[in-house]
Amino acid sequence: MYVPNQVFTNYDLMKYMDTSDEWIQERTGIKERRFADRTGETTATMGIAASKIAIERAGLTASDIDFIVFATLSPDYYFPGCGVLVQRAMKMKEIGALDIRNQCSGFVYALSVADQFIRTGMYKNILVIGSEKHSFGLDMSTRGRNVSVIFGDGAGAVVLQPTEKQGQGIMSTHLHSDGESAEILAMYNPGTHANHWTEKRVADFNDAEVSDMFMSKEMIDKAQNFPFMDGPAVFKKAAVKFPEVIMEALSKNGLLPSDIDMLIPHQANLRIAQHVQQTLGLSDDKVFNNIQKYGNTTAASVPIALCEAWETGKIKEGDLVCLAAFGSGFTWASALLRW
Ligand SMILES: CC(C)(COP(=O)(O)OP(=O)(O)OC[C@H]1O[C@@H](n2cnc3c(N)ncnc32)[C@H](O)[C@@H]1OP(=O)(O)O)[C@@H](O)C(=O)NCCC(=O)NCCS
Repeated sequence: MYVPNQVFTNYDLMKYMDTSDEWIQERTGIKERRFADRTGETTATMGIAASKIAIERAGLTASDIDFIVFATLSPDYYFPGCGVLVQRAMKMKEIGALDIRNQCSGFVYALSVADQFIRTGMYKNILVIGSEKHSFGLDMSTRGRNVSVIFGDGAGAVVLQPTEKQGQGIMSTHLHSDGESAEILAMYNPGTHANHWTEKRVADFNDAEVSDMFMSKEMIDKAQNFPFMDGPAVFKKAAVKFPEVIMEALSKNGLLPSDIDMLIPHQANLRIAQHVQQTLGLSDDKVFNNIQKYGNTTAASVPIALCEAWETGKIKEGDLVCLAAFGSGFTWASALLRW
C-alpha cells in the first residue's frame, strides 16, 4: 500500500466547509484522510509506489510482470488509462494493461479478472492495482460536504500468481451490477450523456457552443463537474447487498459466516461495515476497518485494508479471508480466499 504523507483531519475540512468532527465521526467513523501532494503525486504514481512494494514482496522484479489490471475512478487522464502509465514508468515489457472502471468494487472486479487469466494459464504474474486521487475532484465548499468529507487518496496493489498448494488462493469471486440507480452516486460531467439518461438536467447543452459540449464554463460555474451522491439511498442498498454477496461466496464454497477468519469490507462507511458485521454475527476481531485513518479510498480501500491487516499479523497462512465491496453503478462483488 501507499498513502500520501499529508494528513487531512476533520478539523482541517472545517476550514473549507460548514461541518464538524462530531458529525463526520458519528455518521461515517472517519477521523482523518490522506490527500495527495497537489502536483507531485497522481493516481498512477501512487499506484506505482504500491506496486513496487508488492512486486518486491513477491520476490519479483518489474520485468517479471506479464499483465497489469488497474482499477480507478480518478485516472490521470480521461484517456489513456493508468495501466499504460504504470507499464511505462516501471519500464515493463510491452505487456497488456487493462483499466477497470467499477468504482468502489473496482479492486474486487480487477482481482476477479486477474484470477480468470491465471486459471486459464494465460499469465503467471499479474499486477493488480487500486488507486485514487479523490482530492483533485471534490467540492470542498459546504455545497459538496456530504460527498467531500467521505473520500481520501491512496493506493494498494497485489501480485497474483498460480499456486500448486491444494486449497490455497482465490476460491471464488462474485460480481454483480444494477444500473437502475446509476445516477444516485455519479460524476456526470465531463461526459457524453447529453442529459439522455435522467430527467434531472445534469448539464446545459442547448445553447452551448459545439466545442463547449464536453466541459463548459457554465458547468464549472454551476458546480456540475463534481460527484453527486444520494447518501441515504446508497446506504440502504449497500446494507442489503454487502451481506448478500458475502453469503453468496460462502454458500458457493459450502461455508458459513463463522468460518470467516477475516472480513475485509470496502471502507465505504464504518456504520455500513458494522451493520454487515452484525448481520453476519461476526466478532470484532473478524472484521478489519481502517476508514478512521484513510476515509473511503474507493478502488484502493480493499487492498489498503488487506495490506494493513496482513502487516499487523491479523491474516495468517491458511486463514479464510473474504473481500467484499459495493459502490457506484451500483456494482458489488466479493472474493473468498484461502491465504
Ligand atoms: C453520506 C452520509 C454520511 C450522510 O449521512 P445521513 O445521515 O444520511 O445524512 P443526510 O444526507 O440525510 O443529511 C442529514 C443532514 O446533514 C447535513 N450534512 C450533510 N453532510 C454534512 C456534513 N459533512 N457536515 C455537516 N452536516 C452535513 C445535510 O445537509 C442534512 O441537513 P438537513 O437535515 O438540515 O437537510 C450517509 O448517508 C452515508 O454514509 N451514506 C452511504 C454513502 C457511502 O457509503 N458512500 C460511499 C460509496 S460506497
